[in-house]
Amino acid sequence: MADIHQVNDLISIERQGDIALVCIDNPPVNATGQQVREGLQQAIEQLNAEGTAKVIAIYAAGRTFVAGADIREFGKPPKAPALPDVFNVIEDSAIPVISVMHGTALGGGFELGLSTHARIGIEGLRVGLPEINLGLLPGAGGTQRVPRLAGIPMALDMALSGRMVSAKAALEKGLIDRLESGDPRDVALKAAQDVLDGTLATRRTCDLDTPRDDKALEDTAAMLKKKQAHLFSPHKIVEAVRASYLPRAEGLKIERQAFVDSMDTPQRAGMIHAFFGERAVSGIPEAKGDTRPLDKIGVIGGGTMGSGIATSCLLAGIPVTLVEVAQDGLDRGVATITKNIDGAVSRGKLAADKRDAVLGMLTPSLEMEALSDVDLVIEAVFEQMDVKKDIFTKLDSICKDGAILASNTSYLDVNEIAACTGRPQDVLGLHFFSPAHVMRLLEIVQGEKTAADVLATGFALAKKLKKVGVLAQVCDGFIGNRILAHYSKTASYLVLDGASPQQVDDALEGFGFAMGPHKVGDLAGLDIGWMTRKRKAATRDPNERYAGDVADRICEEGWFGRKTGKGYYLYDGGAPVPNPEVAKIIDAVRAEKGITPRDFTDQEIVDRYMTAMIVEAARVVEDGTAKRPVDVDMVFLFGYGFPRFRGGPLHYADTIGAKELVSRIETYAKEDPHYWQVPPILRKMAEDGTKFADLN
Ligand code: 3HC
Repeated sequence: MADIHQVNDLISIERQGDIALVCIDNPPVNATGQQVREGLQQAIEQLNAEGTAKVIAIYAAGRTFVAGADIREFGKPPKAPALPDVFNVIEDSAIPVISVMHGTALGGGFELGLSTHARIGIEGLRVGLPEINLGLLPGAGGTQRVPRLAGIPMALDMALSGRMVSAKAALEKGLIDRLESGDPRDVALKAAQDVLDGTLATRRTCDLDTPRDDKALEDTAAMLKKKQAHLFSPHKIVEAVRASYLPRAEGLKIERQAFVDSMDTPQRAGMIHAFFGERAVSGIPEAKGDTRPLDKIGVIGGGTMGSGIATSCLLAGIPVTLVEVAQDGLDRGVATITKNIDGAVSRGKLAADKRDAVLGMLTPSLEMEALSDVDLVIEAVFEQMDVKKDIFTKLDSICKDGAILASNTSYLDVNEIAACTGRPQDVLGLHFFSPAHVMRLLEIVQGEKTAADVLATGFALAKKLKKVGVLAQVCDGFIGNRILAHYSKTASYLVLDGASPQQVDDALEGFGFAMGPHKVGDLAGLDIGWMTRKRKAATRDPNERYAGDVADRICEEGWFGRKTGKGYYLYDGGAPVPNPEVAKIIDAVRAEKGITPRDFTDQEIVDRYMTAMIVEAARVVEDGTAKRPVDVDMVFLFGYGFPRFRGGPLHYADTIGAKELVSRIETYAKEDPHYWQVPPILRKMAEDGTKFADLN
């Protein structure tokens, strides 16, 4: 009979002679919630009080060691014992304590390991300090113990990047002492015996001194001041790591204060919304249930989009048949895919020895008939309804029964496309974002007749491709592009009324966007928007203020942005500088329209732009195009470069409050009542005090 004693529901102690094995069993990821903290502390204190064990080994049950603090507790009143205190009890234990880590030891989980007197990794282990991705910093000794073991540059790198470090690298850096294979309990038992036999050394991490490296601290602080001035926790990380020169108690106090201060910021709330939102989008009933096979995929179109989609499938290990109409197009597609795969190798996303095998899963073809045996076809050709209809009519006669037919259209009516087949239940939209092998968003567009298992297969595909699948209903532009079409007009109106394109870009970059809208336009190609405006000219709403005057004239000059070396900015190799000719165009347009330019503060620019985004996002939720506000938020975080620390447009809206938003819209409406209208959902929220978060 094994001698096992439950300290509480989640922590147990197993005695094997002089050895005490402490097991953490808190599925799914063994997060250190209150009961885990309390149980661990009790276990160590109890064993020390009894004094019969000569070594203690901590391990975890299930798929992974501890994945960190319990994120669901953040933002709520803290419950004792605090994690750093528990880890001090472990580090101070008179009986040596070792840890055996498997899977992922992250944040508080890795910090638990650091507080033990020796660490054993199980093959496949990855360790990391990802708190920065939650707007936080390691708050249970990570900033104090990693520098002592692996030096300041490694501590800064891990805490500032949040990246996971392989077991091999962790061993090389001295973050773990051994790498073993086997079941965590068995490894723990053997390692504990090694401690007893004197073949595994133990020591307290905080007895070590951090090797001095003031230059690394200063250089990093200066870099962050320049590049991440708008973020809170990165700067605190440098402060806390610097404090690892101090004795443990003083260093931990500084780390704790920095952690508590970070916890109080809206950035932390935004990032945690992003963490749970990423998981919530696939938590809906439509994403669950039976799925169809995804063993072989067809992609039609070898342009940037089609090649990116094919790359993404190949990298996920799914064989792809790529179809193009002409040999040169097909060759270009294969070349682009090869380049993408080589890029994945050089970025470390794919092992070099797998490259040829991955490319070997690609079958290029000029015949649509080659798609007769695939499980899913993704059409990614020119955005023209008659071309798409022609393709889907052919697919209907070629593809096997049960095959899923998907269009990568970014705004066309999926129902109309489905209607030209005899199997509308098998048709859906799968809207990827360029570059499709990099961008994580996938809008899964439900047609009126799309079958439940087809929709669930769309979500299964997103998971296989490591993308964030978001359910959208049919409308012009679905969730993301529809909202974009609305708010991007604000940037143009601001320029017409007095701001410069650069001021608009600078203001929005200050808000947290990686690039302002004019820089994005230059990067994507200004001709794309120009073509859309021309196509929609006949159906333009005569009451709407036209937003395209300046951009049209820039395009008429043949300046399409980066690819022509000129757009809103000039690109001659160095940093982009504003194009002086554009300023003249703007002056001319203002003069023709009788506009007297006025000054805008950066804050007003941000307020107008964000309010316009929120207005259309609210409508998208109101009319059911998006199921919930969180779906809109994730579309923007994963497809549109929305700053993660702001959580998404509707999370951000909640931080402003519906009352203030309604008041802003009503003020702006005095100038342009057609564009600025209060969505009923927002007015209701302003009246009853509810938030978008209440609808998630
Ligand atoms: N707290 C609470 N819940 C957590 C959690 C955590 N730390 N980590 C994961 N979960 C939940 C997820 O929300 C999900 O719940 P659901 O099934 O209800 O949607 C479930 O556990 C499984 O998670 P994943 O779907 O993400 O599972 P994967 O196997 O894909 O990934 C993982 C596992 C790599 C561990 C990933 O979950 C992860 O990255 N977790 C977060 C790790 C992290 O950020 N840790 C630091 C926390 S902050 C901290 O420790 C502060 C300290 O310094 C004081």
